[in-house]
Parts: sequence; C-alpha cells; structure tokens
Amino acid sequence: MNILLTGGVGYIGSHTAVVLAQAGHQIVLFDNLCNSLKETVSRLEKIIGSSIVFVEGDVRNTELLITVLQEYQIDSVIHFAGLKAVGESVANPVLYFSNNVQGTISLLQAMQATQVNSLVFSSSATVYGEPVYLPYDEEHPTNPINPYGDTKLQVEIMLRDLANSNPDWKIACLRYFNPVGAHESGLIGDDPSGTPGNLMPYLARVATGQLECLSVFGNDYETRDGTGERDYIHVMDLAEGHMAALSFLNAHAGFHVVNLGTGKSTSVLECVNEFEKASNKKIALRFAPRRDGDLPIYFAKADLAKHKLGWTADRSVSEMCSSAWKFQSSQSKQ
Ligand SMILES: NC(=O)c1ccc[n+]([C@@H]2O[C@H](COP(=O)([O-])OP(=O)(O)OC[C@H]3O[C@@H](n4cnc5c(N)ncnc54)[C@H](O)[C@@H]3O)[C@@H](O)[C@H]2O)c1
Repeated sequence: MNILLTGGVGYIGSHTAVVLAQAGHQIVLFDNLCNSLKETVSRLEKIIGSSIVFVEGDVRNTELLITVLQEYQIDSVIHFAGLKAVGESVANPVLYFSNNVQGTISLLQAMQATQVNSLVFSSSATVYGEPVYLPYDEEHPTNPINPYGDTKLQVEIMLRDLANSNPDWKIACLRYFNPVGAHESGLIGDDPSGTPGNLMPYLARVATGQLECLSVFGNDYETRDGTGERDYIHVMDLAEGHMAALSFLNAHAGFHVVNLGTGKSTSVLECVNEFEKASNKKIALRFAPRRDGDLPIYFAKADLAKHKLGWTADRSVSEMCSSAWKFQSSQSKQ
C-alpha cells in the first residue's frame, strides 16, 4: 500500500514508518518539522536501508496535501500531525484547535477531493478524563480535562459523523496510552526540545547528567507505592498497532475506536527502578506536591484491540527503559 504519514518525522510517526517500510509498504512522510528534526529522515533511511519520500509542509495547506495524495497515489493516511503538550494547550488553546482540529479538517478536505477514504487517527487516552471506572474501556464516558484532550475528542466526533455520512469511509481512532521507549537501533526515539514533560525522557536526561534530579509529583496517592501509575506502552508495539489497524480497515469500513495500551499500570517509582537497572545509573529524585490535573492512576482495557485488530502490546517495561536509555545515551555522545 502507499501510505501517507502526516507528522511522520515525529516520535510515534518515525517508529511507525520503520514498521510499515520493513513490511514492504511505500511510505510518504509529511511534516512541518515544528517538533521534529529533518535529520530523523536520514536516520530512518539508515534503519530501513532505502530512501524515503519526505515532503515538508503543514497539514493546514490543503492544496499541497491534494498534490501529495495524487502524486504518490496514496491509499491510506495515518494522521499523527498535531501538538501534544497539555500545559501549552491550556495557555494557548487557539493554537491547539488550529493545529489539531483545523489541521484535520484540511486533511479530510484533501482526502475527499482525491477520494482517499482510509484513515488512522492518533487519538489519546486523554479523551476519557477523570476515571468513572478502571480500566478505561472504549465505552467509558469521554470528558477531557484540558484543551489538548478537547481537540482530540472534537476530531473523533467529526470522524464519526463523516463515517456516518458516507459508508465508503474506513476510519480507526487509536486511543494511545503512554508511549515510551525507542527503536532497537538507538537511532530514533523520543527527543523533546527543552525540558521533557514526560517521565521517560526526563529520567533518561537525569541518567546522562543533563538534568539534575527527577521531581516525583505526589507520593501519597492511593496506588501501590503512593506515586502515580500509568499504562506505559513500548513505541514499537504502538507502531505495530498502526499496521494492524490498517489491515483491519482493508476489510472493514466504518468508524472504529480502539485503545492501544498494555492493560497494566506501572508506578513512577517502579519506572525509576527499571531505568536504574537498564542504565546502571542511580537516578536522583525528590518528592514534590501533587500537580493540579494529574490523575492518580489510569490504564487501558486492551481486549478490543486483541479481538478486533489481532494485536497486543507485549514488550516489557524493562525493554522500554533499555531502549530509551540506548537512544538517549547515544544522543548525548554526539
Ligand atoms: N506521545 C504521546 O504521549 C501521545 C499520546 C497520545 C496521543 N499522541 C498523539 O500522537 C501524535 C503523534 O505524537 P508524537 O508523540 O509522535 O508527537 P511528535 O510531536 O513527536 O510528532 C508530531 C509531529 O507532527 C508534526 N506536526 C505538528 N503540527 C503539524 C502541522 N500542522 N503540519 C505538519 N506537521 C505537523 C511535528 O513536527 C511532529 O514531527 C500526536 O497527534 C499526539 O497528539 C501522542
């Protein structure tokens, strides 16, 4: 298949590109590089062992997307492009609605104009909001607690309505839990600019000495050890989940919402412990007060992905930490 990956140079997109290319698909990466580096494209070429088509552009440029969809005879689109920093979305909601919602409208207009009707969308567990029960299954009420989550839910609603309007559409919304880790080569990984907002890249930078100390926000939650628990999923498992979703869509039209998680939660302290083992470094940490808006614990019910897509996330937290460390330690040597 010919597959367009919007935001394909970013963290999850680049790992998915490897999985798709190695399975023999033709991939086209489309990205405005607002949160990624062009060098990732050459690193991907090194991993895959062949050249990659990369188009620099913004998904809000509908005309450019139409040209790309036509020129490369695209069969399916995976729409990763978007902004994802919760705090920034609170400070600048218009930026988030413009990028994430307007960007998707532009993509859908381009797809309609070119009759490309197969789409996988990067949604998020953030759409669920405060847990009414756990694990979150796909029927759990949606009630996001920040503008980032609002943009994801709005796009989901639009996609549902689009699929209802025309039975030809094949749409999968994948609700990711907490992607971490890196490709085994150590060439690509999660490399946020500035101070990382997520646990794993933060841990990795404490381990290399780039950051002094990990602040653990809250150690008095009602969890196994008092620290927050999340459903961490290896980014390569997540990448394989996209390929499973594309295969599923080949045979099933309509609108499908599926969680991509492991179904298990890991605490901050358990992650620190695994990371220390993987890196053979002691991680300095201090306990800090709980942060507003942080949920104590959440994790996925992962059964639907297994039944519908024939996919499960099998890599361990230890593999997540060792691959993240391999990537971060090789980055710091450069
Ligand atoms: N990483 C996570 O924890 C997580 C969790 C749930 C959902 N998601 C979603 O998955 C998707 C990919 O996330 P990621 O972690 O790879 O993020 P990322 O920032 O690494 O990748 C996103 C890519 O999209 C590009 N981009 C952003 N706006 C664009 C635009 N208007 N036009 C073209 N390119 C644009 C960026 O340059 C970047 O390369 C996002 O939509 C994100 O919201 C991520």
